[in-house]
Amino acid sequence: MLSNTIKKLSTAIIDNQSNPSKAKELIDEIHKHFLEITNIADMGEGLQNLAAVPTASGAAISLNHAAACLLDYRRTTKFLDAMVSLIREKQQQHPNEIINIFYAGCGPYAPFITLIAPLFNSKEVQFSILEINTASIQVAKNLIKELNLSEYVSEYYTADAVTFQIPDAKKYHILFSETLDALLYRESYVPILWNMLPQLSENCAVIPNNVIVEASMTFPKQEGEDTKKEKQVGVILNVREAVKANDGSKTLPESFEPITINLSGEEKYSTMIVDTKVHIHKDIWLYRNESSLSIPLEMEIVYPLEAPNVTFFYQLKPSVELKLSN
Ligand SMILES: C[S@@+](CC[C@H](N)C(=O)[O-])C[C@H]1O[C@@H](n2cnc3c(N)ncnc32)[C@H](O)[C@@H]1O
Repeated sequence: MLSNTIKKLSTAIIDNQSNPSKAKELIDEIHKHFLEITNIADMGEGLQNLAAVPTASGAAISLNHAAACLLDYRRTTKFLDAMVSLIREKQQQHPNEIINIFYAGCGPYAPFITLIAPLFNSKEVQFSILEINTASIQVAKNLIKELNLSEYVSEYYTADAVTFQIPDAKKYHILFSETLDALLYRESYVPILWNMLPQLSENCAVIPNNVIVEASMTFPKQEGEDTKKEKQVGVILNVREAVKANDGSKTLPESFEPITINLSGEEKYSTMIVDTKVHIHKDIWLYRNESSLSIPLEMEIVYPLEAPNVTFFYQLKPSVELKLSN
């Protein structure tokens, strides 16, 4: 059975984390099976499969782009490892209970069901899936059926996670929503957590657990140094801290509080780096450049400084993006 093949491949990915080229090979093999079943390649480069879908705050990436996320190898490996560990932890904390998972934004391959469900029994884990892109959820539903995993899915919702009211929300043990990009650009992870966290039980775990956008300064490279020295100068956004402002009664603000970084002083800098640190679960993080989600932005500092202060703020309306002014 194909789900047995996927089970073997998923287990091998987790066992081969320290060998990224092996993990890549295994994910490519899963991708081959998924391509065969879904015929995504034959759906063509039609506009509807390439266009982003607007949400109440932010945009949802297209079907094709969402499918391609599977091939962000370190991302997929680390999220897979984290999800399996978290489900096992929840099983320990809630023996004899079904572990309920809410999956917001599954894309056409729904990898955090299709790679994970085969490792468990359907009496152990149940998923509810939500996706805004109708074509993506249709493909995901069909793939789940073809892999004989339908019994793991309690509900399919075609809706916007930014505004969705989750039926029976307190029953969920885990919220999974990989709806983010580097610098938290455009996608709706932040407004989704803003909307969903107050609805869920306090003990509901989230994957990724948090995203921290942080600024560092680098110093000019000295002779004999391989890399530039760096120092962290400020947290621009800590998502979990920021969304705590919503107890369930607040509307999404236009933007979060700004932070100003002052570059004047004795020290001379080479560049400013803005990192997106993705905290997936416990000690599992996506570090700089490990994935498309953690690509840093590096800006050269030119002296004399025209303006010593750089102000960042995360805007949520009308578009979702990090803004910089000085
Ligand atoms: C980055 S892709 C990830 C796909 C898949 N879960 C994975 O990890 O490979 C994000 C998915 O979430 C969906 N999405 C983004 N924002 C959404 C929203 N506000 N409501 C529902 N789905 C959303 C997108 O359509 C896309 O399929």
